[in-house]
Amino acid sequence: MKKINACLFDLDGVLVDTAIYHYKAWRRLANELGFDFTEKDNEKLKGISRIQSLKLILEWGKIEKTPEELQELSQKKNDWYLQMITHMQPSELLPGSREFLQELKNRGIKIALGSASKNAIIILDKTNIRHFFDAIVDGNMVQTSKPDPEVFLIGAKLLNVPPQQCVVIEDAIAGIEAALTANMKVIGIGDKVTLKKANLVVAGLSEMTFEQLNSL
Ligand code: BG6
Ligand code: MG
Repeated sequence: MKKINACLFDLDGVLVDTAIYHYKAWRRLANELGFDFTEKDNEKLKGISRIQSLKLILEWGKIEKTPEELQELSQKKNDWYLQMITHMQPSELLPGSREFLQELKNRGIKIALGSASKNAIIILDKTNIRHFFDAIVDGNMVQTSKPDPEVFLIGAKLLNVPPQQCVVIEDAIAGIEAALTANMKVIGIGDKVTLKKANLVVAGLSEMTFEQLNSL
């Protein structure tokens, strides 16, 4: 019997390289406000919601804003981000993404998206991969963002697969914690040291084999 029956994918930084667009847009905002932050700081923004990211960035810059100003600033960042993703093409899928999704489909593994992004559907459409997903859970559907496991638990429920038979693929520390709390296996995409809590870490999906996934 197969151990893994479902695969839940994070989007930004796993299937597409939008993590860099998020970073560019947040950095532009910080620079406008008179400070900067590093790529290392940016790791802490991966996987968490737009508003939580903004609050963290403002803490780094020691800046306080009213709730109304927070809304305006997060809107401004999202407008810049949308300007970048609106030109996305299927060629911007990270290497191996489409092939890995196709292999899972061929093997009868159910596939869900578990993303904190409220822009996820736009990206799936621009890159032409929406049809691979049996369930899509995005930032519009959750109350609490990663590291809370909600996004993945909703995904497993929609797929009708117990968490123990699910594997999550993530590039963010917050997402890895969310998957482990959900009682799922997790594969980290990125740096082995940064993502050390994952059951397995690979540099990208092009390096992943189905056998590795099934042997977790
Ligand atoms: C996550 C990203 O996927 O989505 C975060 O890793 C981002 O960096 C979050 O803040 C929310 O995205 P959006 O598109 O709703 O602003
Ligand atoms: Mg991500």
